[in-house]
Amino acid sequence: MKVTVVGAGAVGASCAEYIAMKDFASEVVLVDIKEGFAEGKAMDLMQTASLNGFDTKITGSTSDYSKTAGTDVAVITSGIPRKPGMTREELIGINAGIVKSVSSSIIEHSPNAIIIVVSNPMDTMTYLVHKSTNLPKNKIIGMGGALDSARFKYRLSEALDCPASDIGGMVIAAHSDKGMLPLTRLATRNGVPVNQFVSDERLEQVSADTKVGGATLTGLLGTSAWYAPGAAVSAMVQAIAQDSKKMFPCSTLLEGEYGLNDLCIGVPVLLGKNGIEEIVKLDLNEAEMAKLNESAEGVKKTNALLETQTA
Ligand code: LAC
Repeated sequence: MKVTVVGAGAVGASCAEYIAMKDFASEVVLVDIKEGFAEGKAMDLMQTASLNGFDTKITGSTSDYSKTAGTDVAVITSGIPRKPGMTREELIGINAGIVKSVSSSIIEHSPNAIIIVVSNPMDTMTYLVHKSTNLPKNKIIGMGGALDSARFKYRLSEALDCPASDIGGMVIAAHSDKGMLPLTRLATRNGVPVNQFVSDERLEQVSADTKVGGATLTGLLGTSAWYAPGAAVSAMVQAIAQDSKKMFPCSTLLEGEYGLNDLCIGVPVLLGKNGIEEIVKLDLNEAEMAKLNESAEGVKKTNALLETQTA
């Protein structure tokens, strides 16, 4: 499998590193607009190959997309990250132009590629890739829910004082501070509902901390996070590479599922060799459905900005 990662910044480089460390891809191409930057990151990573024991070949390219020809999965991380105090939605003006041109360059050289969108505001950027390319919907996947779910499991593992690997749980809806929906009711420790271990108040705190997971890190780091975003993308790429049909909440175009239409938003999907193999329908209760609908309204408002800010 050939993977292209556009944007050799912290998220892109972490993603390339985790993909290489898991050794399931034959090749990773890093692309960046900054002269020599992707080449440098690729060379540095390749110099870990003998130490870390991987055979994946990592190369870099300064905006030369001919090097990405034959890509199976392309990851778009390019664009500006948020600074402390900024919302993901505030990045739309600059990032929309970048995401549009990057996706068209990828498709020009790899018409059959599956595209994973990481750039923010992620749900809207995923929708933009739908609107600006002719790719089938299963080939356009927004990364957000996989990351938010990992952050949810981390917060639950803190609350239950147990390993994160004991926790099962998902965050659906928008990848935004307000719109995220941690599914606390369905979260378990090895199949046992989490509310058997901690109070409802503590679970509300877990949910609140999960929703501002990205903002908390932006405040601490001065820029947005990279390890967990990189790991989330690499887990998704691995599921596609190995055709595992593993379930992740991902941003996908909805056409009636969950009663929603004409937007990309996070719902559980199965990932395999065709990208999104299936959208999984959850039996949400009334309160959860109301939150999903509210979240969808927020995403649609941000999507509407695409027309005014990128015309
Ligand atoms: C975050 C960015 C990747 O949540 O949206 O850290």
